[in-house]
Amino acid sequence: MPSSFQEMWAELLPLGRDPGSGGYRRFAWTPADAECRAWFRAQAAARGLACEVDRNGNQWAWLGDPAAGDAVVTGSHLDSVPDGGAFDGPLGVVSAFAALDELRSRGARPSRPVAVVNFGDEEGARFGLACAGSRLAAGVLTPERAAALRDADGVSLPQAMERAGHDAEAIGPDDERLARVGVFVELHVEQGRHLEDTASPVGVASSIWPHGRWRFDFRGEANHAGTTRMGDRHDPMPAFAATVLAARERAAAAGARATFGKLGVLPNGVNAVPGLVRAWLDARAADEDTLGALVGAIERAAREHSAAEGVQVALTRESFTPVVDFAPALRDELVRLLAARRAYEVPVLPTGAGHDAGILAAKVPTAMLFVRNPTGVSHSPAEHAREDDCVAGVEALADVLEGLACR
Ligand code: GLV
Ligand code: MN
Ligand code: MN
Repeated sequence: MPSSFQEMWAELLPLGRDPGSGGYRRFAWTPADAECRAWFRAQAAARGLACEVDRNGNQWAWLGDPAAGDAVVTGSHLDSVPDGGAFDGPLGVVSAFAALDELRSRGARPSRPVAVVNFGDEEGARFGLACAGSRLAAGVLTPERAAALRDADGVSLPQAMERAGHDAEAIGPDDERLARVGVFVELHVEQGRHLEDTASPVGVASSIWPHGRWRFDFRGEANHAGTTRMGDRHDPMPAFAATVLAARERAAAAGARATFGKLGVLPNGVNAVPGLVRAWLDARAADEDTLGALVGAIERAAREHSAAEGVQVALTRESFTPVVDFAPALRDELVRLLAARRAYEVPVLPTGAGHDAGILAAKVPTAMLFVRNPTGVSHSPAEHAREDDCVAGVEALADVLEGLACR
């Protein structure tokens, strides 16, 4: 008898959780990630699903013959941001297995292969690039660029894969595998409060905002904090600080998002004027013109403030994901399938969060379901969804899988 949703959730809950923060540190290709992957294999085995790892390290659990093609695939990711919540990613994977169980208990008989997938390294917490597993498969991330991605200790992505027992020789575009996928549906906790303001536990995604990550290197001159007169300094920190304030102001004015959430300071001493401030900007907006204008304005602010402080600033775009408009026909079909069975309205909403579904959308018809999050908080241990809403999510996903796979 496979584990219930609640049992699966309880089994996954302790894996990779930091006892101090209560948040998750499930970074790609670490021991915590390996534990999550073992959990995935065990869930597949408990259901008699054939489990395989693709060339890019993504895990697949198959009901039916993968080679038959036109598969209905669902799933998400199990890795986390630093001190992330329990739901971002795992809710989609646990719900996928639970929805297959629900299909069985309904006596539904899929006429197409159905698979559950766990995409590797969705958050990019370790190597800096989000959705590495799906980007590699889709050919958006080349093996050469993947080899240049390094973690804080200088370990490259392929090296980390190898150390975790995955043969990284063959990483790269996986057209053959993606050609087996007829449709991909990712269920995800909502990362905002849209559904909380409605009477609906579940919604359908319309689009993903374009977004990207930019590294700012503010370089000045390291010096003594006590003896260097204020006017003699080339201190990158004030230039950086002024850039943060400018980013907040510009993003607010544009109805967009700009976040400096990661920072490195050298030499990082209390009594030293820094020589380098390295900061990462995450910027997002509803459309690419707004995003481009926002990042341009932040760059100008960084240059002006750097010049005023006598420091240099260099900008590197580390990643960019264009706007994703989910296939309207599939999106409408999801709404129709849910409306036929559920008593609630099915809101259709955009998101500012990135997802593997957004990467896959360029290759296969793709859709997303969102499960209500009462506070909207995400990427934090406070992230939450009520159990009855999670169950509603499983039922909704089962409705969708049944509608797509059993006809
Ligand atoms: C992933 O959750 C992202 O939007 O960064
Ligand atoms: Mn996330
Ligand atoms: Mn996610």
